[in-house]
Amino acid sequence: MKIQVARLVKLFPFHRAPRPYQVSLETGFLPTKTPLDRLSSVKHAPWENIFDQLPSLISASQVRASIIALPVLNCDELATVEEYRRAYAILSLLTNAYIWNGPSPSDYLPPCIVVPLLEVANVLHTKPLVTYAAIVLWNFRIRFHTPSTHNVEALGTFTGSEDESWFVAIMVAIETQGGKCIALLLKIISAKELKDDESLFDYLEKLHQRLQQIQKTLLRLYERCSPDVLYHRIRPYHAGFGGTSNKELPKRVRYVKDFSELGSTPCRQFIGGSGAQSTLLQCFDIILGVQHVGLLSDTAGTITRSLVGKGLPSDSNGDIGFQSRMREYMPGPHKQFLKKLSEYPSVRGYLQTRPANPSSTAAFSRTIASVCASRSAHIQIATRYIIIPARSEERAKVQRNGISNAQEKAGYGQETIMGTGGTSTLPLLRRMRDETSGVGTR
Ligand code: HEM
Repeated sequence: MKIQVARLVKLFPFHRAPRPYQVSLETGFLPTKTPLDRLSSVKHAPWENIFDQLPSLISASQVRASIIALPVLNCDELATVEEYRRAYAILSLLTNAYIWNGPSPSDYLPPCIVVPLLEVANVLHTKPLVTYAAIVLWNFRIRFHTPSTHNVEALGTFTGSEDESWFVAIMVAIETQGGKCIALLLKIISAKELKDDESLFDYLEKLHQRLQQIQKTLLRLYERCSPDVLYHRIRPYHAGFGGTSNKELPKRVRYVKDFSELGSTPCRQFIGGSGAQSTLLQCFDIILGVQHVGLLSDTAGTITRSLVGKGLPSDSNGDIGFQSRMREYMPGPHKQFLKKLSEYPSVRGYLQTRPANPSSTAAFSRTIASVCASRSAHIQIATRYIIIPARSEERAKVQRNGISNAQEKAGYGQETIMGTGGTSTLPLLRRMRDETSGVGTR
């Protein structure tokens, strides 16, 4: 018995949609219409103009001078959610550019960015800086009518490079392929509710195949995105800001609404944009029953240090899970979608209540193995794009300056202490991969 979407809708009102959650059965977490490439109101033309020039302003170190000259504009003329998303993509990229482009990071943001940015972030229920939604979900265009990875390009970038556009295109391609899994995930839920094991195994098999495609797409990043460009030119602009041991990060940033209140403006801390803020992989974990017990900090502090490059606040209480923290940076309706999915028992939990059946175990294990394989592919990517460049940077510094006593004591050269995010990234990612494989045998 195959479960049709129409039947799903009848059985479980939740399946009517994903629409209130801004999730589509065709495009997943990507919007159903491609993002706006321009705000129509004349009033907001100054934002668009500066956004058009962002890569050249960055290379000329002129970002702050240009932004500070902008008028303080409100969002009154933004009428649709698409317009809010476009405004958010623009203002959040300008935010990170303002903070990071200059001889040293800025510890404040001016009112011309803060006033509208806080408003759009509030409407979209997300954070007021660059997030995955700003860089990927709401920041791409399709060049020709046939959608393929080669046809997708970023609307806004920090570098204007093909590498950065490809980085976005790969993420969009993964979201597109993942989007096609949403109906499958909902069918899996229904099959469990109906105790229809035959359909369940069939859907798990399909999910396994889709995950294999996603893994292949992930590895296509190598084709056109150079680790050098990503590590040295793009990634610094994705960073967040918070009190960390990394001296290069501003401890915190004042979001100044009015310069006359500069002194009394509270400081804010945020982590930076990351693929970890994609809702997709968390959906797979929830449906399958993969749990990540890892906290943001462990007793050795290694996980906390892994996020240094993203500006994780060092004083954040260590009792929040990594995935929960990343969820805070997703668009509001997507967070709600994850919450809703969590209300259903996972496949793993379901299978534990069923009589042992070798074919069910095999189907489940295969699907888990493909999530694991995607996480392993991602580890390869993180190694090539962060760990290796971070190590060469560290080596070059040591060659220039010699190794300090502090570095020696800290165990220079070991994976956990390299800093700038490259260091403990691996333990975190490996742990998440291992926690996935751990459930493969029920
Ligand atoms: C050059 C490309 C990439 C690099 C260097 C990279 C790096 C990282 C790093 C360092 C983390 C740990 C958290 C953090 O500090 O942000 C992370 C986590 C994560 N990234 Fe990526 N990433 C890349 C591409 C992608 C892509 C294309 C996706 C897919 C949308 C993705 C999805 C994730 C997810 C879901 C996590 C959470 C860990 C997990 O669930 O296993 N990343 N990534």
